[in-house]
Amino acid sequence: MAAKIILLPGDGIGPEIIAPALELLAAVGTSFDYEEHAFGGAAIDAHGTALSDETLAACKAADAVLLAAVGGPRWDTTDPSKPRPEQGLLGLRKGLGLYANLRPVRPLPALYDASPLKREVIEGTDLLVVRELTGGIYFGEKTRSADAASDLCAYSREEITRIARVAFRAARRKVTSVDKANVIETSRLWREVVRELHAAEFASVELEHVLVDNAAMRLVSNPASFDVIVTENMFGDILSDEAATLTGSIGLLPSASLGDPGQPGVFEPVHGSAPDIAGTGTANPIAMFLSAAMMLRHALGLDGEAAAIESAVDRALAAGLRTRDLGGSTSTREATQAVLSNL
Ligand code: IPM
Ligand code: MG
Repeated sequence: MAAKIILLPGDGIGPEIIAPALELLAAVGTSFDYEEHAFGGAAIDAHGTALSDETLAACKAADAVLLAAVGGPRWDTTDPSKPRPEQGLLGLRKGLGLYANLRPVRPLPALYDASPLKREVIEGTDLLVVRELTGGIYFGEKTRSADAASDLCAYSREEITRIARVAFRAARRKVTSVDKANVIETSRLWREVVRELHAAEFASVELEHVLVDNAAMRLVSNPASFDVIVTENMFGDILSDEAATLTGSIGLLPSASLGDPGQPGVFEPVHGSAPDIAGTGTANPIAMFLSAAMMLRHALGLDGEAAAIESAVDRALAAGLRTRDLGGSTSTREATQAVLSNL
C-alpha cells in the first residue's frame, strides 16, 4: 500500500511551492497517496480555525505531513480571542508530539558569495540546529489582563533528556548545548540534564555549553565551529533564523519536526508564506524541495531518492539557478525545471 502523505499548502506562496515539490517527488519515482487539507489562514477562512479536528486526525493517521507555509497580513491580530494561522502550527506540533525540530544549515560553495558573511568566515559551515519544539515559553501558561501579561517557561527532565538524545545521536563531532544558565532556572535544569545524559550515554561525543547571547555572536563570527546546536524552543526559533540567513537566503532551508519513532513527522521550509510575493510566480521552491527530501529520508526510509533531490538542487544552483531572494531572476517554474533536469 502506498504511504499516506497529508499535504498542507497553507497560505501565501505555500500552494505555489508545494505543487512543484510533488512534481519532483514523482520524478524521483515515488508514488504516494496524497490528501490535501486547508491549514493556517486558509483553514480560518474555511472553518474558523487554523487546524480543524478533522485535519489533525488525518495527520495523526498519515505516514508524514508535507507543509508549505502559513500566515499573512489578512489574519494578523493582537486580539487574543481571534484565531491566528500560527495556532495551526503550534496545534500540529503539540497534537502530533513533535518535540524535535531539525534545521540543517549547509551553505553551498556555489552560494558563498550570496552569504552576508565574508567567504572565509562562512567557508566550511555545516551545522544542524536541534530545537525543542513542544515545551518552554511557547506552551507554558499564559495570563493577560488589560495592563499586564505573562508567559510561563517550564521544562521537565524528561523533555530535556529526549531532545538532548536526538542531538547526541545526530552529532558527528560535537554538541553545543545553548542555554541561559546564568539567569534562567529552566536553563540550569537544562544544563544539568544534558551533562548527565552526556556522561551516561554519549561520553564519546564532545559537549560544550554556550550561553545564548554568546551563541548568537559565534553564529556570525565563527559558524564553522558548530556541528549540532541543541536548545530550547524560543532560543531555537531565534537562532535557527539567524543560522538560516548565513546561506544567503532563508528560501533554501528545510526542516523536519519529529516525535517518537513511528509517529508521523512534519516536513516544511523554515521560511514563511511571503505574502508580498504570493501569486507572482517568483517564490524560491528550494526549501520546499529539500523538505520533501527530508521527508523521504526521515519518514519513508527512501535515502537514495532523498539524496537524488539534494544533489539535483546542488547542481542546479551551481549551474546558476538564482531566484529573486538570491539576487537573480529565475522564476519558480524555471527553478523547478532546472532541478528536474539535473535529477
Ligand atoms: C517557526 C516559526 C513559528 C515558531 C511561528 C510561525 C509560530 O517562526 O517555525 O520557526 O515560532 O515556531
Ligand atoms: Mg521561527
